[in-house]
Amino acid sequence: MAVATLDDLLAEGVQGRGLLVRCDLNVPLDDAGVITDHGRIIASVPTLKALAEAGAKVIVTAHLGRPKGGPDPKFSLAPVAAALGDKLGRHVQLAGDVVGTDALARAEGLTDGDVLLLENIRFDERETSKDDAQRLALARELAALVEGADGSPGVFVSDGFGVVHRKQASVYDVATLVPHYAGTLVAAEVKVLQRLTSSTERPYAVVLGGSKVSDKLAVIENLASKADSLVIGGGMCFTFLAAQGASVGTSLCQEEMIDTCKRLLDTYGDVIHLPVDIVVADKFAADAEPETVSSDRIPDDKMGLDIGPQSVKRFTALLSNAKTVFWNGPMGVFEFPAFSAGTKGVAEAIIGATGKGAYSVVGGGDSAAAVRQLGLPEDGFSHISTGGGASLEYLEGKQLPGIQVLES
Ligand code: 3PG
Repeated sequence: MAVATLDDLLAEGVQGRGLLVRCDLNVPLDDAGVITDHGRIIASVPTLKALAEAGAKVIVTAHLGRPKGGPDPKFSLAPVAAALGDKLGRHVQLAGDVVGTDALARAEGLTDGDVLLLENIRFDERETSKDDAQRLALARELAALVEGADGSPGVFVSDGFGVVHRKQASVYDVATLVPHYAGTLVAAEVKVLQRLTSSTERPYAVVLGGSKVSDKLAVIENLASKADSLVIGGGMCFTFLAAQGASVGTSLCQEEMIDTCKRLLDTYGDVIHLPVDIVVADKFAADAEPETVSSDRIPDDKMGLDIGPQSVKRFTALLSNAKTVFWNGPMGVFEFPAFSAGTKGVAEAIIGATGKGAYSVVGGGDSAAAVRQLGLPEDGFSHISTGGGASLEYLEGKQLPGIQVLES
């Protein structure tokens, strides 16, 4: 069934109506609580701007991190409210609670075009509860915030693409209670993923990084049978190298996954490509001394922190012919300049392929942040997704609850 869109909602008219918008404003913060990447905030602006400009009373709900056991100032959305106001060009109020007295009072006081951000939705443990009744109870309270004075139901706009794979109160349950629409970000992201899965031009190259094989096992299994090449770097390459019998020193290695990696290499050996050299160091630190070694000869007392230049060269050759590229996960510890060349090199190879006409998608928080932090041009890629887990689960072929519910 077709999903109702923001255009449909705007055509109905939103002036003076209460709207609840789920955004993904889960941005990285440094130790001082300063936002280090604004990508998700910027991506949330178009929907919120369109609704506020059309005179809606906009109530935004979002999460930050994974707080446990109730409100925790460390996970307050205060810095996000300020940054969102800045990017939106209008004041964004922050409620002191999620659905408590302050949120209710502020919701009642909204005038046309106002934007109110509720405090971190995960401060209310019902949000992530496995108990349907608990989640539904919170969803009812969220829906009540946008109910009309005459008792008419409010409206829910789902625009937090990065969280649509979560069956949570503000993502899934609330959409079962009130009329619901897909925001522009969710609609755009889904369209990109549909293109990646349905009309994939070949050769199709997938680049996967990140630390744990176990997190990406399902996507590796799924994409290895679909892609022409599957390039593996980042922390998870060491479990694959160990599966080939290489010594990996003190590198990250999931011992319990070695047999699985052996099986994947046996089945998809001609598709999977591993690094041939590794940049190692004796400690995980920005000032560690880098040294490049062959990937089958990592010294016992060293850990791999990036892929080496020969690997970048090989991966670049593979990527240069690709017509479709999906990239998720950095190739190394790109936050440390001495170990960022692998991620930068692979990103540049994807930008090169895009320049030659390939359709390229960067999926995920870390790789998207890497693009910006390494000063690479964002428009060098066809699309930079705001959702890591969400895009991977889509590519795994899973149904995403936050999308499925919009279809009902
Ligand atoms: C993300 O960062 O991938 C999304 O915001 C979802 O966050 P979560 O993994 O904590 O549910």
